[in-house]
Amino acid sequence: MSNSLNIGVVGCGYWGPNLIRNFRSLPGCNMKTMCDISEERLSHLKGLYPEIEGETDYEKMLSDKSIHAIAVATAVRYHYPLAKAALEAGKHTFIEKPMASSTEECEELISIANNKGLSLMVGHTFLYSPAIRKIKEIVDSGDIGDIQYICARRLNLGLYQKDINVTWDLAPHDLSIILHIMNEVPQSINCRGTSHVTPGIEDVTAMSLQFTNERSAIIHSSWLDPRKIREMTIVGSKRMIVYDDVAQQDKIKIFDARVERPPHYDTFAEFHYAYHYGDVYIPYVKQDEPLKTETQHFLDCINSSTTPLTSGEKGAEVVRILEASSESIRSKGAAIEYHSEKTDSNGSSTFASLADAPKQTKKRATENLAKTTRL
Ligand SMILES: NC(=O)c1ccc[n+]([C@@H]2O[C@H](COP(=O)([O-])OP(=O)(O)OC[C@H]3O[C@@H](n4cnc5c(N)ncnc54)[C@H](O)[C@@H]3O)[C@@H](O)[C@H]2O)c1
Repeated sequence: MSNSLNIGVVGCGYWGPNLIRNFRSLPGCNMKTMCDISEERLSHLKGLYPEIEGETDYEKMLSDKSIHAIAVATAVRYHYPLAKAALEAGKHTFIEKPMASSTEECEELISIANNKGLSLMVGHTFLYSPAIRKIKEIVDSGDIGDIQYICARRLNLGLYQKDINVTWDLAPHDLSIILHIMNEVPQSINCRGTSHVTPGIEDVTAMSLQFTNERSAIIHSSWLDPRKIREMTIVGSKRMIVYDDVAQQDKIKIFDARVERPPHYDTFAEFHYAYHYGDVYIPYVKQDEPLKTETQHFLDCINSSTTPLTSGEKGAEVVRILEASSESIRSKGAAIEYHSEKTDSNGSSTFASLADAPKQTKKRATENLAKTTRL
């Protein structure tokens, strides 16, 4: 594969233009065609980027043999058909989050990508943000001790979606971060949700995930809040991290705080919790645009035939949890036991479809799993 990759982006609404802007800025890449069924959106973008071709017919973009890779940034219900058509046309494919509307769709896309030896990546943007990369580094170093629980809040007013609830819209970000930090998939999921504006489409949800060793996570998602809140608290046995993505500076604070329980005591009077309050430390976090790192990573993975950090398998894992959350909402918050597909020793799951892939592709897929790229 030559170093110059021609890129097509389908979906030029709110988010697609961010992908276009970033691909356009990267060396070794030619942002060739932007596609949208809306003439209005295309003419707006043509005004910004006259050198990029505009196309209303996706089929025409697909049949352009000079395009090596396609990024899909449409409403979720179109992810699967558009990504499937891109893969079948032999294009490396990037899909915005959440990867598709069901696990079945995700598995099929993974299988096509593996069979054709194509890169498949999902836009779990936060894993490319300097703040999350720093948090992962701190957690993996053991500095905060063993993780006990994570609490995430992603709240704002709107933007109301008509076909997915707020969990499917906002929680993919928190789920991708939590799975990345926990380094394992949950054992069970509960979710409660209420619809205040559109009947049948929950706009406020509370999900809870149970992991091994009593570890847990809570995700509160809302389109019905006056403030924009993007917060995550990661509680370790030694220290706690508070991550505020809305803060202009000091997005990460590490609190030297913990609670200890005396291991032995004879009488109730002797029983005292020990509260430790220490310093608050603010690590330096470089300001880089996550999308720039993400789009560069997609190109790097194509050029080096390595599996993206946010691979199709990782995208499918998030969709599988979203499906479980919907099932739990339908069952009034009942716990849904979580069955990931095959899980390797690193806690990442792989799919039966990989095993079914033809010999040479299977080899590539196995190599790719072993070579999963670290940023
Ligand atoms: N990674 C992130 O942080 C992030 C942030 C926001 C949105 N997103 C994701 O980006 C995707 C798009 O969201 P959005 O808010 O931009 O949606 P949007 O509705 O604003 O834009 C979607 C665009 O796709 C176009 N479109 C739909 N079907 C098409 C087709 N068949 N061919 C060509 N164009 C078609 C529509 O005309 C529209 O302009 C969603 O999956 C969303 O979850 C990701």
